Amino acid sequence: GDATAMLIKSYACQRRTPLKHHNSFLTEALEILAQNAEYNDNEGRSVAFRRAASVLKALPRRVRSMEDLRCLPCLGDHSQRVIKEILEDGSSREVESTRQSEQYQAMKALTGIFGVGVRTADRWFREGLRSPDDLIRTGQQLNREQQAGVQYYDDLQKPVTKAEADVISDVVEKAVHAVLPGAEIQLMGGFRRGKEVGHDVDFLITHPEEGKEERLMPKITNWLEEQGLLLYQKTTRNSYLEKMDGPARASSNMDRFERCFSIFKLQESAASCKSNCSASAEDVSAAHEHHSEASGWRAVRVDLVVSPYSQFAFATLGWTGSKLFERELRRWAGQEKHMSLSSHALYDNKQNLYLRAKTEEEIFAYLGLEYIPPSERNA
Ligand code: GTP
Ligand code: MN
Ligand code: MN
Repeated sequence: GDATAMLIKSYACQRRTPLKHHNSFLTEALEILAQNAEYNDNEGRSVAFRRAASVLKALPRRVRSMEDLRCLPCLGDHSQRVIKEILEDGSSREVESTRQSEQYQAMKALTGIFGVGVRTADRWFREGLRSPDDLIRTGQQLNREQQAGVQYYDDLQKPVTKAEADVISDVVEKAVHAVLPGAEIQLMGGFRRGKEVGHDVDFLITHPEEGKEERLMPKITNWLEEQGLLLYQKTTRNSYLEKMDGPARASSNMDRFERCFSIFKLQESAASCKSNCSASAEDVSAAHEHHSEASGWRAVRVDLVVSPYSQFAFATLGWTGSKLFERELRRWAGQEKHMSLSSHALYDNKQNLYLRAKTEEEIFAYLGLEYIPPSERNA
């Protein structure tokens, strides 16, 4: 047995989960089963597999035998069977047949389209559709979001690198400061947790003078649009009212901030052009010309969220992720502390009051949790 195994706590928000860990050969398998359960609208089963995978990510070394799993939380019978098979045979039949299945592959391809959720993908799958090409071929009715999703499918499939996220950060900063000097912009999501690639780039925007941030998003998107930097955008208004939505809605993970789902047109930089085309610095313009023939730009998914200053700490915590870490934080708050946590607020259901916070550290303290930095929230 491994003495450290005894120390693994059962909520992901009680543990440190680094980005790089020792058990991806097991966690990838369990996450395929989790994903497949999600495709089949079985949330309970999906979360169970995700929790099991997450525990293995927190282990200080590679699992070599079932002995190593003694006393670990969150490992149900099914997860243990899968792990045992992988340890003994090198792979799990259930995982491999899921991975190869027509349904899994089609659902992956279809939900991979921006604007397509499990429900829509499942309906298309049952109609015999398997890929974005099938949607075009059969002339499916698509909303504006899905049209953009199909149009930019190949680009949006390509992971966004940290270097690309940094270029987008500069663009967003320029846009925000052009329309509201003094505003603060923070990189969120996977990149804040230290990931080297992501499926999108997430930003949280606020202003120290509360009220200044109201209706800011349309100004930002107008500026970006005028510069020709947006391929798609859909802005939704802030609809959060503490009196009406606070405690009642706090358990839901959907927040009500002013936010924008967008697709940026990212110019391929001179630097990447230089390396791709092996042109000298003097040849950048020539290289750029060469690149523009192949397109010269790529589409990148960007999420923008505007938060009032007083909610900024909660928004920061809520938009850093990982998704499982967030889910576990809310479960911990509700089940262990009788509190309701959202990206807007923390409400104490026993004292019947809101707990104000300026920093993430204060929120962890209210929740009776040791502070976990973003780089260790990769649950
Ligand atoms: P990749 O983008 O795939 O690299 O990972 P990511 O962790 O950045 O995921 P994503 O961009 O989907 O989400 C970033 C964080 O924002 C996660 O913690 C999500 O839980 C959170 N998030 C996404 N959508 C919403 C939402 O509508 N409301 C709230 N409160 N949080 C959200
Ligand atoms: Mn993201
Ligand atoms: Mn996102």
